This record gives sequence, structure tokens and C-alpha cells, in this order.
Amino acid sequence: MEPSIYKYPDVFRRAHLESPGEIPAEVVFLQQVWSRHRKPSTRRILDIACGDSPHGRLLAGDGFEVVGIDRSPTMIAAGRQRANENLRFYRRPIEKFSLPERPFDAAIFMSETFPVLVDNADLLTHLKSVGRALKRGGLYCVDIDRQDPLPRVAQRTMWRERTARAAGIALDIREYHRPIAWHSPLHSIYELECTINFPAAAVTTRDLIPVRYTTPSLLELAALASGMFKMVAAYCDLSFTKPLDRCRYRWMGVLRRV
Ligand SMILES: C[S@@+](CC[C@H](N)C(=O)[O-])C[C@H]1O[C@@H](n2cnc3c(N)ncnc32)[C@H](O)[C@@H]1O
Repeated sequence: MEPSIYKYPDVFRRAHLESPGEIPAEVVFLQQVWSRHRKPSTRRILDIACGDSPHGRLLAGDGFEVVGIDRSPTMIAAGRQRANENLRFYRRPIEKFSLPERPFDAAIFMSETFPVLVDNADLLTHLKSVGRALKRGGLYCVDIDRQDPLPRVAQRTMWRERTARAAGIALDIREYHRPIAWHSPLHSIYELECTINFPAAAVTTRDLIPVRYTTPSLLELAALASGMFKMVAAYCDLSFTKPLDRCRYRWMGVLRRV
């Protein structure tokens, strides 16, 4: 089986078309959300599906105490290498987990990964796990891509092909859409194939990423159904004033632990 792109932490960021400055801007916005929606100061943060926790690293540098969870040992090892004493990691699945930690003031789920929670049961156990890790009144900020309707495909279909470079190494990236059943809650199944042209030998990674259609109203419903959260706001494109109708890229749901 081909390896996952998450075995190569420096490469995945380039392959995902992340633009420079994106993560610092998100970290500033998160801090504004916390001051706006929570009276006590917010200092202890849980980073869900943290990868190497680029958000956690910036927050830890500002004196926040951050704990990240992720299932990938490689991403966690990369995060530990760059972390200061304010950033710690646990290997955990996001679907259902517990941590030997005092309750957190806030949790974050960044970089548009929330829609991989496809099954209703996983969505609810996820929210219950996060809820149990938070103080009452704690905030859970979830960052989600805006999705536009896609034509359904009857077979695996090439979407885009491009090249990029990461740490001086050429990447050949191909993205595909996969068929989905009419009754599936999925918006799409995104397949990412990346050939990393290492000087010794090229490696091809392959990841299949299910994307559930997660709209603000679905997140609001899931929050209520979990019995743990209430949705208090939905912001788009890192703005407090832009209406959802004008959202171009992403939106952020803000849930409060009840
Ligand atoms: C797109 S990366 C985002 C990482 C990080 N939040 C960032 O902004 O760079 C997605 C991460 O989610 C993790 N992940 C995906 N599904 C997961 C699951 N079911 N349980 C735990 N981690 C998961 C992957 O290992 C990967 O590190």
C-alpha cells in the first residue's frame, strides 16, 4: 500500500496549497474569538487533529499552554521536535478519546479536517470527547471549508494536476474525485496522489479523504445532539462582519460547552 502524505510533514503543507501567513492570521483570529466569547482568560488550549501543531507552536510561543492530539506518529514526532515546553502531544483518534489532563479553556480544530468525521456516531462521540476535555463555558472553534456543489462522478475522475516544490524537492500532485452513493452524507471523496521526487528514489503517497457536507446548520444540530455544546457563532474568512452569504473560502463554527 502506498504511504500517506502525513508521513512527510514538510510536503503535506505544500501539497495542500496552504498560503504563507495563513496560520499566523488564524491564530490572531482565534485569540480575538476567545476574548469576544469568553470572559475568563483563555490559556489552556486543546488542538484537535493537530498534525505537527503549527497553531499550537505559535500559541505556545505566546505563553499559552497547548496540548495536541493526532493519530499520526510521524506528525507528532515532527511537532515534538519543534515544540517548546508549552506544547505537548498525545497520540489519539479524534473519533473518541480521553486525556489525563486538567480541563481546557478552549479547543481548536483547524485546517478543514472536521468534515472527515463522516458517521453520525463518530460525530457525536467526537463532540462528547471534546466536551469532556473542556471546562464549562469553554469554547470549541472548528474551521471548515466552504463547499460548492460538485457533479457526481460515476468513476474515479481526475480533478487537477500540478507541480510544486517542498524543501527543494519537486512534487507531482494529482487530485481525483471518487464516486459516492446517492444516500451518502458525503459531499465528495477527495483522493490526493503526490509523487515526491527524492534524489535517491521517488515515493508516491496516496490519501483518500472523505468530505462530509458540513454546513453551519449541521454543526449546530450536532452540537445540540451531543448534549455538550451550543453553537454561538459562525464566522467566515476570518472576519467578524462578513455575512455567511459572502463567504469565499472557509467558515468557523464557535461552540460553547454547556
Ligand atoms: C490537514 S492535517 C492538519 C494538521 C494541523 N491541524 C494543521 O493545521 O497543520 C490533518 C491531520 O488530521 C489527522 N487526522 C486525520 N484523521 C484523524 C483521526 N481520525 N484521528 C486523529 N487524527 C486524524 C492527520 O493525521 C493529520 O495530521
